[in-house]
Amino acid sequence: MTTATKFWDKIAEKYSKKPISDEPSYQKKLQVTQGYFKPDMQVLEFGCGTGSTAIIHAPYVKHIRAIDISANMIAIAQSKATAQDINNVTFEQLTIEELDVEDCTYDAVLGLSILHLLENKENAITAVPASLIAKVYQMLKPGGVFATSTACLGDNMPWFKIIAPIGKFLGFFPLVKVFKVQELVTSLTDAGFVIDYQWQPGKNKAVFIVAKKDDTKSDS
Ligand SMILES: C[S@@+](CC[C@H](N)C(=O)[O-])C[C@H]1O[C@@H](n2cnc3c(N)ncnc32)[C@H](O)[C@@H]1O
Repeated sequence: MTTATKFWDKIAEKYSKKPISDEPSYQKKLQVTQGYFKPDMQVLEFGCGTGSTAIIHAPYVKHIRAIDISANMIAIAQSKATAQDINNVTFEQLTIEELDVEDCTYDAVLGLSILHLLENKENAITAVPASLIAKVYQMLKPGGVFATSTACLGDNMPWFKIIAPIGKFLGFFPLVKVFKVQELVTSLTDAGFVIDYQWQPGKNKAVFIVAKKDDTKSDS
């Protein structure tokens, strides 16, 4: 079991009871995302946590595959879906790194409060997980969208880069990567995405982006 799996498994129960910190912003993000949905859509959510967002979106699309590294998060998500009689969401314990799907599989991919928690394996200047963004691009159908809400700590808390490894070592935090909104936008456009929607509710708040795959492109 990896350190990340242990960390998220351990806090799953507490995480499921935590109230949403900014309910109006959450509602706006749900509404904007649903504006892109159609009833026949196939959706992937990675880092789905305890499943609340997938369950809310479920009635608006055909199917959601919701994955998370933590078996405990997935167990909570599944029990909530069962209790609410939601049958078109498949919850699975799987990492985004392990996920293996054919190109052009999904109409929409959601990555909410997750990109800053992933390793950039590119060994590049930015801490943004560029290879995973490229992977999301590949798995989207032409015209498909990637909706992401991401804490970009590099803009207002660049010093977090120093304490993040200490906090992780002590088990207080998971892996946290520090990058700026502009670095995230650049990584998305470098992967081939066009930014269709971008909104940041406030200075220290997560940026919400809907990035679109050009509908003339089926690969690269
Ligand atoms: C901050 S929580 C966000 C959960 C949910 N998306 C939300 O907005 O409430 C991050 C989630 O990502 C999961 N996670 C962390 N690393 C992951 C990975 N490599 N692949 C898939 N899930 C991961 C964690 O288990 C956790 O549930």
